[in-house]
Amino acid sequence: MAISELLIGKAKQCIKRIVLPEGDEPRTVQAAAILLKERIAEPVLLGSAEAIAGAAEETGTDLTGVACVDPLESPDAGRYAAALYEIRKNKGLTEAQAEALVKDPMYFGMMMVKTGDADGLVSGAVHSTGDMLRPALQIIKTRPGIRVVSSSFLIDLPNPALGKDGLLLFSDCVVMPCPTAEELASIAVSAADTAKTLCGIEEPRVALLSFSTKGSAQHELVAKVRKATELAHEMAPELILDGELQLDAALVPEVAAQKAKGSPVEGRANVLVFPDLQAGNIGYKMAQRLAGADAFAVLQGLDKPCNDLSRGCSVADIVSTVAATAVQAQR
Ligand code: ACO
Repeated sequence: MAISELLIGKAKQCIKRIVLPEGDEPRTVQAAAILLKERIAEPVLLGSAEAIAGAAEETGTDLTGVACVDPLESPDAGRYAAALYEIRKNKGLTEAQAEALVKDPMYFGMMMVKTGDADGLVSGAVHSTGDMLRPALQIIKTRPGIRVVSSSFLIDLPNPALGKDGLLLFSDCVVMPCPTAEELASIAVSAADTAKTLCGIEEPRVALLSFSTKGSAQHELVAKVRKATELAHEMAPELILDGELQLDAALVPEVAAQKAKGSPVEGRANVLVFPDLQAGNIGYKMAQRLAGADAFAVLQGLDKPCNDLSRGCSVADIVSTVAATAVQAQR
């Protein structure tokens, strides 16, 4: 079963309220109607009633029953501004600035999630990744015990021999441009958790990737991956995890038997941890474009689930990402 179908099925088991700050965006409006009709989630569209109705008319979408909230008119704006001021006052935010910020649907949506008025948030059909990530990091923050927020791409490959029946997680391809060894270890442990709790992979097999396998090359970049592997082992001794490994030693049992004898991953990795954001982002796009993989990202390590879309997303991508967010919220 494709991962998106699996997530939609799980989301339906316990409906969650997911806020969509880009509520007047045509694909988002269409996705909201599907989410409600198919009982995948309870969507909340943010925006002016006029603009949302305009997008619905443009796309021929029936929004009957879909909740719409205008941050400029909402009676909750004052409560959200006060809460935002409390969260950010030690960073120099003034009350007036907090009042102005909650008029922005992205901040209004984050405050709905923070205060429990929504269970999660999905955005990014219009906004850049940074525009969505910054308020999430500032307001929602990391889950207790988690060092950094990062991401996993769920990569659904046509070849079922790879990963778990064709499903691989790539991490981190979205958030951390240049992680330290400690941060890389935290990314590896979070990705294993995403594999287990979101994707139903009972036995995550985590490979920390490099251009070297088990000392075949010496370089400070390789040493960082080796250090991250040690730290990840300390953080989660129960995990099947190894590094530093080249991609072939992570994915091909015959190559692993040659280059990484005794590796607990045994060339059967289903979670690939890239050494930095350039490698990860290029890697997932190669899987998508060269191998025909379906791919979408989830953020991991946030205290409450918020997820980012690609600006080129389809209506189906929005539905899948909302389903993933709802499943994360069931946790
Ligand atoms: N985990 C937890 N907290 C973090 C993290 C993190 N990974 N990164 C930053 N923070 C916190 C900071 O501590 C800070 O908190 P504070 O304000 O309470 O002190 C807050 O977030 C803001 O941090 P800044 O350093 O000011 O934010 P910055 O401007 O560096 O932005 C961001 C952070 C947005 C994550 C940045 O690193 C970024 O742009 N990353 C790349 C995003 C991107 O373009 N990805 C590729 C495209 S996506 C795609 O292809 C699908």
